[in-house]
Amino acid sequence: MDDGHSKDNQRGQKMWGGRFAATPDQIMQQINASIDVDRRLWREDVAGSKAHAAMLGAVGVLSAQDVTAIHDGLDAIAAEIEAGTFPFSVELEDIHLNIEARLTERIGDAGKRLHTGRSRNDQVATDFRLWVKAAVDGADDAVEALIAALLVRAGEHVATIMPGFTHLQTAQPVTLGHHLMAYVEMFTRDRSRLIDCIAHIDECPLGAAALAGTPWSVDRHMTAVALGFRAPTRNSMDSVGSRDFAMEALNALAICAVHLSRLAEELVLWSSPQFGFARMSDQWSTGSSIMPQKRNPDAAELIRAKAARIAGNAQSLMMIVKALPLTYAKDLQDDKALTFEAFDAFNLSVAAMRGMIETIGFDPAAMRRAATLGYSTATDLADWLVRALNMPFREAHHVTGAVVKRAEVLGVAELCDLPLAEAQAIEPRITADALAALSVEASVAARTSYGGTAPDQVAARVAEAKVRLANR
Ligand code: ARG
Repeated sequence: MDDGHSKDNQRGQKMWGGRFAATPDQIMQQINASIDVDRRLWREDVAGSKAHAAMLGAVGVLSAQDVTAIHDGLDAIAAEIEAGTFPFSVELEDIHLNIEARLTERIGDAGKRLHTGRSRNDQVATDFRLWVKAAVDGADDAVEALIAALLVRAGEHVATIMPGFTHLQTAQPVTLGHHLMAYVEMFTRDRSRLIDCIAHIDECPLGAAALAGTPWSVDRHMTAVALGFRAPTRNSMDSVGSRDFAMEALNALAICAVHLSRLAEELVLWSSPQFGFARMSDQWSTGSSIMPQKRNPDAAELIRAKAARIAGNAQSLMMIVKALPLTYAKDLQDDKALTFEAFDAFNLSVAAMRGMIETIGFDPAAMRRAATLGYSTATDLADWLVRALNMPFREAHHVTGAVVKRAEVLGVAELCDLPLAEAQAIEPRITADALAALSVEASVAARTSYGGTAPDQVAARVAEAKVRLANR
């Protein structure tokens, strides 16, 4: 880079010139080749080629011997790749050309006939759809397992009191089970988004050929069925030029990753000594190289970071496609690295979250203590004044404020522990029962509205969710 600016300009020119003459082909190859990324599609590519060959045989384009030779050759290639002996070559650009060249090496002319009525454009679209479809299914399974883990922990803690926050300020007491079930709801919707996008992935582009279809009498329904697709795609240009199936999958992953990141952030907060709500298990903690007392929640932090990358990849993929004239352009080759990376990061994140959830130790006493801070049940007193005394809410709010102030002055941490006489000095009609109802337990137990935090409600939601999970 500094060649043109170096003192020895001539030497610089010479270095640059030499480099230029020697390298364009190599750089071209480097920017063009995708084999290091798309070799991951080898199973799908072999399957796609076998289906294509079988179909060409069935419609009389290939002889039965050629089809058999192609199938046997592809099986042998699959075995080579499996065994790690396949000679991958960058000169052959991508997985499609690598496999086709090797096939011809092994079986001769029959290998050269395989590409009849097909283009790499429909070939890659088919391979990629097959991969994304399976990956979405795998991601859904992983989220399902995470939900199962959350349900176990939520079931254990339907009545464990903790502070509920708004603005990260103590708001009202809730239960830990209720809090965890909020994530079960989010992850359940995430699963439904993942499953929904399969409908859009599930059409087979094979037979669209380069972009316009093919004069060969291909049976596209046959290949679609053979590869497990619901149907063939209906427009050849759309088939080779569209990637919204992958965009949709990555965006579904991104939304779920955002949910994972929020939960990860809470685990980070909860396991800090200042909160002290939870203790990350040894398996999911890391030490500091200098501070011996530290237990760092690295996995949770990395889940936050992965969410950024997954969302970024979803965005990058959309930006790759956004100004492409129909149909295929090589820009689309970069869809795969983004997609593979997003799924890898996602699966790692879900697995790590599941491990943390399964093993994290909660400290109910610390959570309860925190829930009592800041007179979190003051609203319950105001509600009582309105209900029992028919006091207008604004006035009840004012009276409650005075009671809180008195408790503060007396150094009484919880309103339920305030001596009755002190409360009655402010409002003579306040009863002992009214004060008793200001414990965090009573506050939580009173919130019996559907979807509220009362332990009975939470237990019912956990039970329903377990049934839903089992019936899927
Ligand atoms: N490696 C290419 C990709 O992933 C395969 C399709 C190549 N098509 C082409 N017209 N050059 O997109």
